Amino acid sequence: MKLAVLGASGHGKVVADTARAAGWSDIIFFDDAWVGKRFVTHHPVVGDAEALFRSAAEFDGVIVAIGNNRVRLDKTRALIDAGGNVVSVIHPTAVISESSSVKQGSVIMAGAVVQADASLGTACIINTNASVDHDCRLADGVHVCPGVAISGDVVGGECAWFGVGACVRQGLRIGADAVIGAGAAVVKDVEPGITVIGVPARPAS
Ligand SMILES: CC(C)(COP(=O)(O)OP(=O)(O)OC[C@H]1O[C@@H](n2cnc3c(N)ncnc32)[C@H](O)[C@@H]1OP(=O)(O)O)[C@@H](O)C(=O)NCCC(=O)NCCS
Repeated sequence: MKLAVLGASGHGKVVADTARAAGWSDIIFFDDAWVGKRFVTHHPVVGDAEALFRSAAEFDGVIVAIGNNRVRLDKTRALIDAGGNVVSVIHPTAVISESSSVKQGSVIMAGAVVQADASLGTACIINTNASVDHDCRLADGVHVCPGVAISGDVVGGECAWFGVGACVRQGLRIGADAVIGAGAAVVKDVEPGITVIGVPARPAS
């Protein structure tokens, strides 16, 4: 089973490890910096993004491993348009409720938990040991960083970013492109595009 990964980054390394654990035997990277970067750990970097777009349909699966939420989502949509079989990669130690749903191009890392009736959009990242509780609805391109705890029935808008170790009270609405700072405790809705930090979280000045 051959998986092509776009993005030879630190995040890409973790996606590759996750994919190996999930049963992908052959992992190949593409990145615009490929001339100066030939390996991600022991996985080869074989071409730039254009090369992947040309050959996407030849792989059993493709996934984008780029940290920037908007870029990851745009490239994922472009790969779908290019005929790639964009897959989600889920670590075997993640616990995913059978009543939850995960769209294509998302990655769920080791130790993450996605609870009952939660839904994840396209190109989401649920990072190491993060939890997304019941009935949460995370839109396309959301990144839930390591150790985040999102309580039940939270809505995360497109490309919202939940920083490492943050926690979010139940039932809140986090707007598109909002940024939740590392370690923040979110107790009120967050408007689109706003960055909040601290305990309790308030808009960053
Ligand atoms: C909130 C955040 C986006 C702000 O980044 P930034 O705009 O580059 O901010 P700066 O580092 O310049 O810091 C600006 C001020 O905010 C403070 N600050 C930054 N992040 C903070 C946080 N998470 N909580 C509390 N205060 C914070 C800084 O101490 C600094 O205060 P000062 O002006 O009194 O010195 C960033 O700090 C953050 O938390 N990112 C999440 C990172 C993450 O989760 N990475 C995991 C990747 S998997």
